Amino acid sequence: MLMPVKNHTLDENSKYFSFTRLKKNSQRKPEKLFSGWLPQHLLLHSPHTHRKNRNCTQAFTLLLPEDRSGCTVVNTAKNRRHSSRKNSLCSMALDKMEDLSLKQTIPRAEIGEVKGIPLTKSICSTWDQVWSFKARPDDLLIATYAKAGTTWTQEIVDMIQQSGDVEKCRRATTYRRHPFLEWSIQEPPSVHYSGLELAEAMPSPRTIKTHLPVQLVPPSFWEQNCKIIYVARNAKDNLVSYYHFHRMNKGMPEPGTWEEFLVKFMTGKVLWGSWYDHVKGWWKAKDKHRILYLFYEDMKENPKQEIQKILKFLEKDVNEEVLNKILHYTSFEIMKENPMTNYTKEFQGIMDHSVSPFMRKGVVGDWKNYFTVAQNEKFDEDYKKKMADTSLVFRTEV
Ligand code: PPS
Repeated sequence: MLMPVKNHTLDENSKYFSFTRLKKNSQRKPEKLFSGWLPQHLLLHSPHTHRKNRNCTQAFTLLLPEDRSGCTVVNTAKNRRHSSRKNSLCSMALDKMEDLSLKQTIPRAEIGEVKGIPLTKSICSTWDQVWSFKARPDDLLIATYAKAGTTWTQEIVDMIQQSGDVEKCRRATTYRRHPFLEWSIQEPPSVHYSGLELAEAMPSPRTIKTHLPVQLVPPSFWEQNCKIIYVARNAKDNLVSYYHFHRMNKGMPEPGTWEEFLVKFMTGKVLWGSWYDHVKGWWKAKDKHRILYLFYEDMKENPKQEIQKILKFLEKDVNEEVLNKILHYTSFEIMKENPMTNYTKEFQGIMDHSVSPFMRKGVVGDWKNYFTVAQNEKFDEDYKKKMADTSLVFRTEV
């Protein structure tokens, strides 16, 4: 087993790590495996279970977070050499791993409020800067209620902007290609993110993501008459997806049980507020601004047609071959396997894809696997009231 023998901060920029190897049940003196100075951005991260070697309970990895290419898992060269020579992966006592695990160090996000809309405390603390964000006329904003098909739309847009060049689209993760405007994570440093900083540093033309309800969109987007693509998804599937996302993502508050989350969703007591107000607010706004309002269900039913709508809106033209390429590379199956779109390269220790993958099912109608008959009746009755004042119509199956 590997045990950390030293781990003390020497100065602001570096830490000294030293690990020894001690085989399970062995009485021998621990053998030094590797040690060295690590810059602060190389942080000890959560353990990765490894079944290869029965002597070892868990493999130890170091993570290089948040460089331009996203998070990269690195084993030190020495560590790797040693592992293969001895056919023994580096591991450490489970109880020690527990001490270091981000499971224990990253608490669930707490909720605050901006103008009556629940947002993470982290977003609330930077709200003044979000509100005074300076949009540029050629910015494209992709706005959605969370879990409505944002990542999918982002990938389609990027594929269009890169004229179907897959390699260019793999230059970085979705999270970094398109700044997530209001999102900010301050702690721990390994997952630090500021959508504002990212956007400000990005050359034009920028594509920016937001989940903000229309009334919270920074005024500069309207002043600059920016193009906006809004994607909406039917409430029931949106809710199911959101529930699973809460389960797997510590950046979200605790969801509670399915029943409890259902109530929170219906009463708008979830991050970014009421789904009902969100979709209705943006629906109204489309009559006054340059907004392309799309539906997840339409995208599933006829993705080619919806991609063509986006092409037209962006005033871009691609030939049939490129169009088919975009269709192929933005399919659920391909995006699920693409580390640049499936969120496995970011948020280590925050998102746990073994609980529920980010690219979960990608279908219309999964809600039927979750709603009881009673829940469905109650939901429908409430839905009718909340949606009585809009012409918006959603499909819950295709
Ligand atoms: S987020 O976190 O708000 O940005 O999430 P978002 O990307 O809006 O939504 C995630 C859901 O979209 C599904 N998804 C897709 N469906 C179909 N085709 C493609 N290409 C695709 N990409 C992502 C994803 O699986 C989530 O839905 P569920 O129902 O949970 O599977």
